[in-house]
Amino acid sequence: MENIEINKQPIKDQYKDDKNLNLRLNLHTYNINKVDWNDWCFNQMDFQSKARILELGCGPGGLWERNKYKLNKDWNITLSDFSKGMLECAKKTLAEVDYDFKYKEIDIQDIPYEEGSFDVVIARHMLYHVPDIEKALSEIKRVLAAGGTFYATTNGRGAMAQLYELIEKFDPEIGLNNLGMGDRFEFEGGRLLLEKYFSEVEMQVFEGKIVVPQAEPVVSYVASTMRGRAILTGQKKQEFTKYVEDYIEKNGNMSITTEACIFKVKK
Ligand SMILES: C[S@@+](CC[C@H](N)C(=O)[O-])C[C@H]1O[C@@H](n2cnc3c(N)ncnc32)[C@H](O)[C@@H]1O
Repeated sequence: MENIEINKQPIKDQYKDDKNLNLRLNLHTYNINKVDWNDWCFNQMDFQSKARILELGCGPGGLWERNKYKLNKDWNITLSDFSKGMLECAKKTLAEVDYDFKYKEIDIQDIPYEEGSFDVVIARHMLYHVPDIEKALSEIKRVLAAGGTFYATTNGRGAMAQLYELIEKFDPEIGLNNLGMGDRFEFEGGRLLLEKYFSEVEMQVFEGKIVVPQAEPVVSYVASTMRGRAILTGQKKQEFTKYVEDYIEKNGNMSITTEACIFKVKK
């Protein structure tokens, strides 16, 4: 069977713009942890004056938009993604932000910069998509300056557990029990991989709980994922919607655990 996940084209198709990602982010707006994820991440990061910063897989640029009033003009910030469309979305998000961001189309497995070009490299919720994660890590290590820091975020294995259980109960044959590719780079496995390439690896966890009173954000989340888009269409989507509606009617809402982390990694 073709591996739909680590084949590059479906990933590029999934992220040809920010539409699918925004459908998933919408479900997270129901999180009862009201600390904003982008604020939290930014507060975990240290940037020296004149820091040369590279973000890989930047998506629509939410980290910088949310923290626009905290940016130092002496930093040199390059935002990159392997999706041209996503980079366009980032440019649009940041159009009103008074800052000279550089933009570049980059595949994390082949970073087009000299050794030691950056003091900070960032890769949030994207390493699990990368076909050769170890190649990506060795590239990051190469472009980081001595003493530089790499920040990577990802989900834990417990993230969205109740949603996967519900999908499994709805249809054990549907093959939607793992919506993303999160297992390829999660808390434990991610740490082990990072420790192979870097000297110091620290991790901070960000926990929360989504409490959602309607079916629509849940169904849209599932139907926006790579597998969900292929499987949850037409009749099947209607049946799943009814299933989630019945669950919510019976329970009052749907409660879903979220757990993410940031790794702070030194070269
Ligand atoms: C889940 S989104 C995360 C976006 C953003 N980092 C965030 O946290 O909001 C994953 C992003 O990684 C990008 N991506 C996936 N594989 C990539 C690769 N091999 N090289 C660079 N970017 C990649 C996608 O285009 C997408 O924008």
